[in-house]
Amino acid sequence: MTDESIVDFPGEKIDVRFDKSLCIGVAECGRASGDLFKKGRSPWCVPDECTVDEVRDIVERCPSGALSYTDKQGTPEQASDVNQIGVVADGPLYAIGDLHIEGAPEDKSGLKYRAALCRCGQSQNKPYCDNSHREAGFRDYGAVGDRGPGLKNRGGPLEIKPVEHGPLLVKGNFDILAGSGRVAWSGEKVALCRCGASENKPFCDGRHREIGW
Ligand code: FES
Repeated sequence: MTDESIVDFPGEKIDVRFDKSLCIGVAECGRASGDLFKKGRSPWCVPDECTVDEVRDIVERCPSGALSYTDKQGTPEQASDVNQIGVVADGPLYAIGDLHIEGAPEDKSGLKYRAALCRCGQSQNKPYCDNSHREAGFRDYGAVGDRGPGLKNRGGPLEIKPVEHGPLLVKGNFDILAGSGRVAWSGEKVALCRCGASENKPFCDGRHREIGW
């Protein structure tokens, strides 16, 4: 079965894939200098307008994993050395690193490195963000109160499991960045709120049960 949300843009040395179902319009691609992406042009993305390194650099800026590439020289995207979960003010969680998101489809390869995860509880595309937080009026600056147990090691796989009717369970070596950009929390295991109701965001405090999420 073909996924109609996926559009491929072939190039001589590198192909770019865009997955509309994951795009939340951050526009890191559209604002990048150069002509890889050009609004109003058809096709919108032309990989041969840039060097392979430029294409890789721009695609890897996409925080939702909607963009990915296949480098025909055979060099796959490398996961960041450090796993991070960024709390976006009034918005989602940005996960970057060696991501293993339970249930992530194989053909959505950007999700192996970058993902925007819903934390307002309203997305129609859970566990991924679809910008429903805007309509829902979700408000949270992204302050993080706890520092976490700290880390002995960095990197390695980061497992993300959306629990049915409950939080995101995250396991691995990772940091949580507060909405201010501060490295706020470091540790190996945490439950993050994805219902939007926790009074100790970004952590789950069990309130999903009270609200019958
Ligand atoms: S998922 Fe929101 S409080 Fe647990």
